[in-house]
Amino acid sequence: MAGGFQDETAGHHLLSEMASNGGHGENNSLYFDGWKAYDRDPYHPTLNPHGIIQMGLAENQLCHDLMEEWIRNNPEASICTEEGVSCFKAVANFQDYHGLPFFREAVAKFMEKVRGGRVRFDPDRIVMSGGATGAQETLAFCLADPGDAFLIPVPYYPAFDRDFCWRTRARLLPINCSSSNNFKITASALESAYQNAQKSNIRVKGILIVNPSNPLGTTMDKHSLHSLLSFANHRRIHLICDEIFGGTVFGSPRFTSLSEALEADPSADRRLVHVVCSLSKDLGLPGFRVGVIYSYNDAVVACARKMSSFGMVSSQTQHFVGRMLADDDFTSKYLAENARRLRERYAVFAGGLRRVGIRCLEGNGGLFCWMDLRGLLKEATAEGEADLWRVIVGEVKLNVSPGSAFHCDEPGWFRICFANMDDETAERAVRRIRMFVEKKQRKKTMRWVDGLRLSLPRRFDLEDVALTPRLMSPQSPLVHATT
Ligand SMILES: Cc1ncc(COP(=O)(O)O)c(C=O)c1O
Repeated sequence: MAGGFQDETAGHHLLSEMASNGGHGENNSLYFDGWKAYDRDPYHPTLNPHGIIQMGLAENQLCHDLMEEWIRNNPEASICTEEGVSCFKAVANFQDYHGLPFFREAVAKFMEKVRGGRVRFDPDRIVMSGGATGAQETLAFCLADPGDAFLIPVPYYPAFDRDFCWRTRARLLPINCSSSNNFKITASALESAYQNAQKSNIRVKGILIVNPSNPLGTTMDKHSLHSLLSFANHRRIHLICDEIFGGTVFGSPRFTSLSEALEADPSADRRLVHVVCSLSKDLGLPGFRVGVIYSYNDAVVACARKMSSFGMVSSQTQHFVGRMLADDDFTSKYLAENARRLRERYAVFAGGLRRVGIRCLEGNGGLFCWMDLRGLLKEATAEGEADLWRVIVGEVKLNVSPGSAFHCDEPGWFRICFANMDDETAERAVRRIRMFVEKKQRKKTMRWVDGLRLSLPRRFDLEDVALTPRLMSPQSPLVHATT
């Protein structure tokens, strides 16, 4: 090959240690392997109907029609139209890292609306970043030195290892959460994560949480937020809350922002509190790269603002988004309709799976279900989970993400994203999972029946067994559908 490189890794000795240390986390990750498998064989209703359906991508495509309608009705919001071109020069030249004032004001107003108007945000505290991805790295840079740690409840969003740690060399240490209480953070798990770090001489600089949670799809209650605030205060460490899914809450309980908990707690030291937002999920605009750090710490605001030059939101995007978010009627209508469509889609998946006896953690936000397939594991180990995942991707043709990718230490949980597809694809995906589960259940029943044939008295006929209603799960009707 020209230049002598055999593959991507062959030239790694020419790069920095940091660039080539695998800190992006893409190698040896079933999360990313699933995406690659999808890329090789993507589902298409007519061109590739037996291809892999992408359920590993937390994208929100359910309300793009509303956005398109707004764009058509507001041509002056874009500088690429007859109605808006007069702003071209000013927008093209704008490069102030504070951001366009009306953009920051509109973002602050939108953040307030997502939080039900129960908190106020100061536009001067809003710092732009290239998505929440950039926001996480900026905060890690501002708050931690290499080797310092943040405690994080598991399971957590896989790309945090890249976003928060790769270039900053900060670390994430798990707060172990368990399905026995729906993965809620307990005081003892938090304390023990902190103590473990102390014992290993690791300096803990803070706690990083995501509310609503990715991958759980649940919101954190007020009590938990207050406990975390008080723990952070007591230990003099930071509390970062990623609220990127704040506008996707579709069921009760309602969303409580960390900012709301902070307002209600006059004893909390505000300088320790930082909130991350983005328009990637709430508005389904990941390509726009609009991320926000809202820090209550002046020094962090000042430092992060200087850093925003590395990942600034383009002035063209600020110009457009600022106008759209300033449209009160539109954002109200959008948020209500977004919640309604997400609720409906969640019900399609959670309800469809329930009919074959598969339970999902009860969710009220986010773009995914946290599906419990522990009953289908051959063995309750990480390897058993990976084996099941291979079958689901390779044979069932669904790219779902296994719990191990989220550092979940209970094998058998899988995240399925449901908002990145149309209704027809969603129905097909549910049908595929149900057929797979039913097949598994039938096999189990047959094995059991075979066992009976060996062990029961002769007069107990196989046919009797098969026809006894109690032996067939009521949720396992014969499969009629085909994909
Ligand atoms: C919890 C969480 N934080 C951050 C991100 C990154 O978002 P962005 O596209 O705004 O960079 C994601 C994306 O899935 C996420 O789930």
